[in-house]
Amino acid sequence: MNITVIGTGYVGLVTGTCLAEVGNDVLCLDLDPGKIAMLNDGRIPIHEPGLEEMVARNTAAGRLRFTTDAAKAAAFGAVQFIAVGTPPGEDGSADLQYVLCAARNIGRHMTSHTIVVNKSTVPVGTADAVRSAICEELGRRGADISFSVVSNPEFLKEGAAVDDFMRPDRVIIGADDPHAVECMRSIYSAFIRNHDRLMLMDIRSAELTKYAANAMLATRISFMNELANLADKVDADIEQVRVGIGSDPRIGFDFLYAGCGYGGSCFPKDVRALLRMALENSTRLSVLKAVEEANEAQKRLLLRKIRDRFGSDLSGRRFAMWGLAFKANTNDMRAATSRVLISGLLGAGARITAYDPVAMPEARRLFPKDSRLAFAASAVEALRDADALVIVTEWKEFRAPNHAVLRELLKQRVVFDGRNLYKPATMRASGLEYICIGRR
Ligand SMILES: NC(=O)c1ccc[n+]([C@@H]2O[C@H](COP(=O)([O-])OP(=O)(O)OC[C@H]3O[C@@H](n4cnc5c(N)ncnc54)[C@H](O)[C@@H]3O)[C@@H](O)[C@H]2O)c1
Repeated sequence: MNITVIGTGYVGLVTGTCLAEVGNDVLCLDLDPGKIAMLNDGRIPIHEPGLEEMVARNTAAGRLRFTTDAAKAAAFGAVQFIAVGTPPGEDGSADLQYVLCAARNIGRHMTSHTIVVNKSTVPVGTADAVRSAICEELGRRGADISFSVVSNPEFLKEGAAVDDFMRPDRVIIGADDPHAVECMRSIYSAFIRNHDRLMLMDIRSAELTKYAANAMLATRISFMNELANLADKVDADIEQVRVGIGSDPRIGFDFLYAGCGYGGSCFPKDVRALLRMALENSTRLSVLKAVEEANEAQKRLLLRKIRDRFGSDLSGRRFAMWGLAFKANTNDMRAATSRVLISGLLGAGARITAYDPVAMPEARRLFPKDSRLAFAASAVEALRDADALVIVTEWKEFRAPNHAVLRELLKQRVVFDGRNLYKPATMRASGLEYICIGRR
């Protein structure tokens, strides 16, 4: 099948590449000429395990191509996936300008019947807006070409995106056109071979399902974070509590880890967009409002713990920071806790030497030319003469550090752990002062 994917970010590039991997002819469109030049040059603009090799394999096979030519892209695919960003607007609502721009380009240039599939995370009712934008453009051209709009929200996780796309736990299709449904079934049959994981529903429910999923996951995190803060006060251990409640099959173990707050390109913006949607529809989502507030506070928790330990004036102090990405296995720093912490530490007069296996170029872009933020070539190198180590991202390579090296290189042998990576008793037995979240 000829498929166009619009947007070559985390979702679009993975979608296009995986669709090519199973034999489709895929043309990926992006308006960013830098990204397309990079991709045509055999490099990929994001860090995503397994993706680079897959892009190379499918490009070499001639099944995967990249362009900035919107007209060519609109004329290419019988199916057009929209996977552009939906960042938060000023009021928290999802900014739909990129989605509608993509829809207009389709309407302006499509040449035959087209199925337009919305993969971006969008508020309920967006499929109608996409339909209107395409109709308007067709009307302007005096063209009478049929099309349908499908909602197909994406559930992949950054850091495991290729795997998630190749082996989805569910594929949600919101559609009202039987031909479009059959076409989506045929596209996804390559990914859900052992049993049917395709869930068919109406378009509005599909749009809401994506927000509901992210809101639920964010709720679990904020719930555990607040409980961890209580555990800190009452001398209980949140890890033991996590195991105790996770063993209940109605609760389960996933997404119950306490830490220094969630970030990333999805949870914060989707929680805000859902809150906005509720407000616009005169409905209260008071639980979700609390989830957001709890997370904002949690992102400042490490700074508070550092100030409790070292005082509020941190001038003359230097901190080693392990991890910059919002989570492991990605270079994405959108809404990352590290950004809040870096600004807070620099604002209090401290200097930082940071290390992250893949996100340092992104951090350099976000904090340009600030000599108080330096980067180290390795995790160990970052430690040298630091007053303390602060762990912000749960990269695997941080899980089993050499305690003797920590003791030798750190000036004050203090470790703040925003991801609860270690056993407090072991750290203390090693002569390290260990300050984590909700653990004894
Ligand atoms: N990142 C994730 O883990 C994830 C997971 C599930 C869903 N989503 C959702 O998927 C959508 C895309 O997210 P992302 O993280 O891939 O975004 P991204 O910012 O990484 O990529 C978006 C890309 O779209 C391009 N673009 C914008 N307007 C365009 C247009 N009119 N035509 C062509 N290209 C255009 C941009 O240049 C950019 O390269 C969002 O709605 C997001 O909420 C993201």
